[in-house]
Amino acid sequence: MGTHLDARIEDGIAILSFATQPAHQPNTFNDATIGEFEETIRPLFADPDVRGIVITSSKPDFIVGADLQMLAGARALPRATFFERVRRMQLLLRDLERCGKPVVAAINGTAVGGGFELALACHVRVAADLPAIRVGLPEVKLGLLPGAGGTQRMPRLIGIREALGLITQGKTIPVGKAAALGLIHEVVPADQLLARAVARARELEQAVQPWDVKGFRVPGGEVHSPGGFETFTGGNAMITKETWGNYPAPRLAADAVYHGLQLPIDQGLKIEARNFVELAYDPKTAGMIRTLFFGMSEAKRLKTRPKSVPIKSYSSIGVIGAGLMGHGIAHAAAINGVEVVLLDVDAKAAETGKERIGAILTEAVRKGRLSESDAKAALARVHPTAEYERLTGCQLVIEAVFEKRELKNSVIERVEAAIAPDAIVGSNTSTLPISGLARASKRPDRFIGLHFFSPVQKMPLVEVILGEQTSEATLAEALDLVKAIGKTPIVVRDGRGFFTSRVFGTYVTEGVGMLAEGVRPALIDNAGRLAGMPMGALTVADMVNIDLSHKIRQQTKADLGDAYQPQPADGVIDFMVERGRYGQKTNAGFFDYQDGGKRLWPELTTHFPPAERQPELEAIERRLLHIQAIETLRCMEEGVVQRPQDADVGSILGWGFCPFYGGIASYIDYVGAARLLAECEALAREHGPRFAPPELLKSMAAEGRALYQ
Ligand code: NAI
Repeated sequence: MGTHLDARIEDGIAILSFATQPAHQPNTFNDATIGEFEETIRPLFADPDVRGIVITSSKPDFIVGADLQMLAGARALPRATFFERVRRMQLLLRDLERCGKPVVAAINGTAVGGGFELALACHVRVAADLPAIRVGLPEVKLGLLPGAGGTQRMPRLIGIREALGLITQGKTIPVGKAAALGLIHEVVPADQLLARAVARARELEQAVQPWDVKGFRVPGGEVHSPGGFETFTGGNAMITKETWGNYPAPRLAADAVYHGLQLPIDQGLKIEARNFVELAYDPKTAGMIRTLFFGMSEAKRLKTRPKSVPIKSYSSIGVIGAGLMGHGIAHAAAINGVEVVLLDVDAKAAETGKERIGAILTEAVRKGRLSESDAKAALARVHPTAEYERLTGCQLVIEAVFEKRELKNSVIERVEAAIAPDAIVGSNTSTLPISGLARASKRPDRFIGLHFFSPVQKMPLVEVILGEQTSEATLAEALDLVKAIGKTPIVVRDGRGFFTSRVFGTYVTEGVGMLAEGVRPALIDNAGRLAGMPMGALTVADMVNIDLSHKIRQQTKADLGDAYQPQPADGVIDFMVERGRYGQKTNAGFFDYQDGGKRLWPELTTHFPPAERQPELEAIERRLLHIQAIETLRCMEEGVVQRPQDADVGSILGWGFCPFYGGIASYIDYVGAARLLAECEALAREHGPRFAPPELLKSMAAEGRALYQ
C-alpha cells in the first residue's frame, strides 16, 4: 500500500486504486503521485503473474488532473527540465498502452484533465452510471492544454471534428454522452463497475490501441481530407470569434491537433509537450490559474471571513423591493432553501415579484436544470407582502428599493422597527455610500452593503461593502448569507461607486470620451473587444442607460463640488441625453436598435466627426485597460480594496475584465509597475490628470514590487 496508490493482484489482474494525498482532496497528479504511479505500474508490465491491469480510484472522483499548485511552481524550473517532466508522463502512458497486457480504466467518478488522459491511454474505459460524473479535457479553461496525450489520443479515437470542439472549448461531458461519442466503451451500474472492469481485462485479447495498428486511419478523415480542412478552417474561425485572439490556449491546442495528427503519435506527443510548456511559462496562464482556480474557490469558501465569529445559518430573510434586483435576490435565497419575505409597496407589486421568480424557475425546469418538485418548493418559500410586520422573524433584510436616499432612509427605519435587534440590515444600493445610509440606522454596526449584479440569477458576484461602523460579526454573518445563497463575495470598503462600478465606470467613460476626440466609434468598440473586454464601451453605455450615467454624474458633481474633475465624456453624454438617446431602453443611443439587431447611429459621426488621423489600435486598447488599472490602484491606495485577489475576482465576475490575465490586479502585475508608471505618465501628459499615477504605483515601481508578492 503506497501513499498515493493502493495496488493488489487478484487472480492475475492487478488493481490500482488512486488515493493521493492529501486525503480530503480529489486525486491529482504531481511529481510524487506520478513517481509512485510509475514505480508501481512499470514492474507489472513484465510480471508473469499479471495478465491485465485495472486502474481506478478509492475516492469519489477518479482523477481530476494535474496538481495546479505544482504547475504554478514549475515555472521556476528551467524550461528544459519542465519539458522533460511533461515527456516523462507522456512516455509512461505510451509504455502503458504498449505493454501488451490489457489495461482498463474503471471510471468511478469525475475524470478530467490528466485523469481523463490516463483513461484515454487505457485500452478499455468502463464508467459508473452516475449523473454527477464528468469527463473531458478542460485544460484550456485555465490557459493550458492537455499535455499527457489528450490532444493526440482523443482525435485519433473519435475523429478530429468532435475532439477539436471538446478540447478547444474545454468542455466536460457526462458519461452517457462520452459513451455515445465513443470515448467510453461501457457504462455500468456503480456497484458493478470494478467487477465489469476486471472481466473486460480478462476478456480482451488484443491489448493494442487503434493508432498502433498498422494502416491506422483517423476516423472521419485525416487532417488533409476535405472534412479535416473544413473542421480546421471552421475551428480557427470559431476560436478567433470567441477569444478575439486573446487566449493562446485554444489556438495552441488546435495547433497540436493539426500538426500532431499528420505525424505518428510519438511525434505528435512531442508537439503537444512543446505547446504545453509554452503555455505553462506564459505569465498570463499563471494569472488565470491563480484567479480562476485558487482565487475564485477561496472567495467561495470565504477564506478571509473573520474566524472568531460563529458561522450563521439562515432559515429566513427579507427583501424589500420586488423589482429587477429584489426578485433576483429573493430567487437566489429561495432556491437555496431560505424562506424569503418579499415586500413591496402593495400586495400586487410584491405578487408580481413572486411571479417573476416563478418564471425563472419554470425556465430552469424547462432546461432540465431543476426538478419540478424543487421549483415548486422554492416558489413556496417566497412570501409576498406589503406588511412590514411580516419581517419579524427575518435574520437579515436586504433593501432593493429605488435608488433614492430619502426613500431608502425611511425603508431602513421601518425595517428596523419590525425586526429583532440583532438582525442584519443590508442595502443593495449601487451608488450611495453605505456609511451615509447607516446614519438612518439605529444599529449601524449591524448595517452593511450587499451589492448584487444584474441579472442576479446569472451573476455570481456580491460586493460586500463595509460601512464605517459595520462590525466584524456583521461582516462574517453577511458573508455566511452570500455563501448560503450560492454567490461569491468580495469585501470592499465604502466609497463612491465602491470598487466594481467605480473601476468599470472608467472604462465606459474613457471610451465614450474618445468620441469627442474624433476617434471612430467602431474603432472604440472593437478596440475594447480586442483588448479583452466583454463589450465595447459604447455598447455598454447604451446597455446601462446613458441617462443613468448622466444622473450619476450630476449626483457626483453635487457631492464633490469643486473637486469634481470634468471628463471628456461629459459633453458627449449631455449631447445624447438632450436628444433623448438614452440607449437600448429607448432603442436609440450610440446605436440604433431595430428588429433585435443594432447598428451604429449614422449621425454619430456627423456630430462627432472622426479625425483624419486615427490613433493606433494598440494605443486605444492600452488606454482602455490602463485607465482601469489606475483606478484599481487608487482603490487599493485608499483601502477600498485591500487584497489583489478581491480586485481580480471582482473584476472578472463583476464586469468581465480580461479573464486571460487573471483579472485587473493580475493585469497590473503582468504589465509591471515600472512600465505601467511610465505609460500612465505619458498618458497623463497627453490626456489629462485622470491618468496621473497614484503614489502606490510610484512606490511599487521604485521598489520593484508587484501586487502579488
Ligand atoms: P426597480 O425599479 O426594478 O425595483 C425597485 C422596487 O422597489 C420596485 O418594485 C418598487 O415598487 C419597490 N419600492 C419602491 N419603494 C418602495 C417602498 N417604499 N417599499 C417597498 N418597495 C418599494 O429597481 P432595481 O433595478 O431593482 O434597483 C433596486 C436597487 O438596486 C437600487 O438601489 C439600485 O441602485 C440597486 N441596484 C441596481 C442594479 C441594476 O442593475 N438595476 C444593480 C445593482 C444594484
